[in-house]
Amino acid sequence: MEWLWWRDGVLYQIYPRSFMDASGDGVGDLEGIRRRLDHLAWLGVDGIWISPCFPSPMADFGYDVADYRDIDPLFGSLEDFDRLVRDAHAHGIRVVLDLVPNHSSDRHPWFLESRADPASPKRDWYVWRDPKPGGAPPNNWISIFGGPAWEWDEPTGQYFLHSFLKEQPDLNWRNPELVREMHGVLRFWFERGVDGFRIDVIQRIAKDPALRDNPEIADSPGGYGGQRHVHDENHPDVHGMLRGLRAVADEYPERMLVGEVYLRDPAEVAKYYGQGDQLHLAFNFALLFTPWDAQRFGAEIQAWDSLVPAEGWPVHVLSNHDAPRHASRWDDPEHGEARARLAAMLLLTLRGTPFLYYGEEIGMRNVEIPRERLQDPLAHTLHPSVARDPERTPMQWDASAGSGFTRAPPWLPLARDAALRNVERQRAERSSLLWLYRDLIALRRRTPALQRGSFRRLESPDGVLAYERRAGASVARIALNFTPEAQRVELGAEPLAGGLRSAYGTPLPAAPEPVELAPSEGIVLVVAASR
Ligand code: GLC
Repeated sequence: MEWLWWRDGVLYQIYPRSFMDASGDGVGDLEGIRRRLDHLAWLGVDGIWISPCFPSPMADFGYDVADYRDIDPLFGSLEDFDRLVRDAHAHGIRVVLDLVPNHSSDRHPWFLESRADPASPKRDWYVWRDPKPGGAPPNNWISIFGGPAWEWDEPTGQYFLHSFLKEQPDLNWRNPELVREMHGVLRFWFERGVDGFRIDVIQRIAKDPALRDNPEIADSPGGYGGQRHVHDENHPDVHGMLRGLRAVADEYPERMLVGEVYLRDPAEVAKYYGQGDQLHLAFNFALLFTPWDAQRFGAEIQAWDSLVPAEGWPVHVLSNHDAPRHASRWDDPEHGEARARLAAMLLLTLRGTPFLYYGEEIGMRNVEIPRERLQDPLAHTLHPSVARDPERTPMQWDASAGSGFTRAPPWLPLARDAALRNVERQRAERSSLLWLYRDLIALRRRTPALQRGSFRRLESPDGVLAYERRAGASVARIALNFTPEAQRVELGAEPLAGGLRSAYGTPLPAAPEPVELAPSEGIVLVVAASR
């Protein structure tokens, strides 16, 4: 099998507001990303996914798109974008954009037209309904961001649907014109050299055509969690819609679609792979919610591994722009740093494409944001405690005043430890977390078992997660000690060709039998026959 970038490589998510500010306004931009490509190439990543950078009023920081075929001036221009793609490709880095198909901005010209004139052909590009007798909304659906999912439009006497903010009206994927237009959007970017799309909340684009009420959960506190979401998402028609998007991607060589399928039931998520005719990759978010426990990790990973269909390929992620950073989630006063190293070893040795989130390679933590500086709309519509700003703070490049991110006041505060925890400093320390990421990525790349191999759990003491990866003659065995005590594991007796310890310093054993693991330490061993 030939090397395929999205299956065999390592991908990296960039939140463009926070990666690098080249223009000097305190907000990251495309030219900033371009100037930092050296870091990504040095690290060894094969592709970047850039969260939305299209024109947007930024009600949800770009997830409210006002033009699907342009770049927001805050981030640069189409010329900047073309330059970024060209230079990324020259570094061997693919570029993935973020498609937001479920909703547009309420300032998108389509919605302005749709709202202004019920007779316009654009009316049906969104979901408009009459009130119930008495004026109530058409059904009981609730917005994920709080409050009813329906907004009343006085001048035209109808409600429109919004799964998220009222500034994000839902598009109607049952309208063939809208679908044709969205397919055109994909082609527009593919023609410009874009290698793929991450698709936002793809499970939402198909809803019950009859818009029936969701069943309420008895004795629940109400709100979004108080309903079973059987009618407002994941309608079976979603799979046909996805096949349509995939057919467009397949018009071009080596293009990729990775979906955010935000459903609780992993068996439902797995259906989004189709028969190799829907998503190439579907995010498994289980590890975003898994507590630091070897058994729980093992169970989640194994469950997902067995659900992904044979023609599909898993994908793993520990952090993203919607969830607290994993170095914070699994932090511990004594073992926090070691755990971040162990997590890196896990992510980069699993069967499935790893997605890193910018800054995790230096162990960035959530940053506490003073209330008056919170930006995320969730802080206002739901509660300050659910704001996603803490995981979206500027990248920590060096020890200078703006941490090498900006010359201006940054849009979100920098971490207080930015002068100590940054790329420059960790590059200068051979034993840093940053180097561990780089070494793991390089090991994965040169070891077929790690890149492509099967996954099988191995017997191990309680509190240790051990597994084998195997591709033909290439074999790697991994043991991760989740406990604060030393552990001893058996990983076979064959001679070794190499490997890595998550804590640098102790030499690798000559033969792997038995292996001593320090508290919160992990090891990857590559068996000699595999060379
Ligand atoms: C997805 C995005 C999130 C956004 C939401 C609405 O979940 O990841 O950031 O707020 O969709 O577009």
